[in-house]
Formats: sequence, structure tokens, C-alpha cells
Amino acid sequence: MSKLFRFGVSLDKDLLDKFDRLIRAKNYPNRSEAFRDLIRKELVKREWQKAAEIAGAITLIYDHHKRELLNKLTNIQHDFQNLIVSTQHIHLDHNNCLEIIVVKGNPKQAQKLADTLKAVKGVKYGTLSMSTTGKEIK
Ligand code: NI
Repeated sequence: MSKLFRFGVSLDKDLLDKFDRLIRAKNYPNRSEAFRDLIRKELVKREWQKAAEIAGAITLIYDHHKRELLNKLTNIQHDFQNLIVSTQHIHLDHNNCLEIIVVKGNPKQAQKLADTLKAVKGVKYGTLSMSTTGKEIK
């Protein structure tokens, strides 16, 4: 385990009050953990801009009755097969499906896959959760 360092942070009262409200709203046990999370978030953001390998998840909501939609989504995923780790399909109700596509690899490719899938006609909603392989973060 790496060594723990302490350092002081100067903040004006207003900003600190806002930070403390945020900490309470998000149920952080203390300021240190909230601060660490903010740093990690920025590091992950940077990984998505700079790193060679990231991990993440694309979530799609769509109506599987839409003509050709399933074929299109499958064809796109085959074009990105090196990037996709796994896909989970959940039948939400009679019409709607939720699909979670786990990706690991080049961040630009992951963004491109997410954009391409979201742009398919019939996809109601799509998100890309930018995460990390964890290698760069303690
Ligand atoms: Ni389904």
C-alpha cells in the first residue's frame, strides 16, 4: 500500500460550505474521501483523453419491434468486436429492451461505438459511462 500524505487546503468559507453540503448529499464519510473521489474523477477524465486503454459501459434503451433495429445494432457491434467484452440484454417490458455493452480498449473507439449505436434510428436513449481499467488509480 502507498504512503498516506496529509496536506492543507485553503478555501473561502462559501466554497467550503458548498463542499460540505455536497459531501452530506452524497453521503461521503468525510472531506478526505470526497476530495479523493474528485481527484479520481479528474484522473479518469484524463485517461479518456490520453490513455491507450480504458473501460466503460454503454447502455441502450430501444424498442425491439422497430424494423431492422436489432440487425443494425448487431452489425455495428461486430464491427467493434475487439473492443466489446460482453453484452447483456434485458427485456424491460413487451416492447422495450435494455442493453449493456461493456467495453475495454481505445477510448476514441469506445466513444465512436457509443455515438454510432446511439445514432441508430429507434434507439430511445443511450449513455456512455466512462470508467477506468483501474491500473492508473489507487
Ligand atoms: Ni429484449
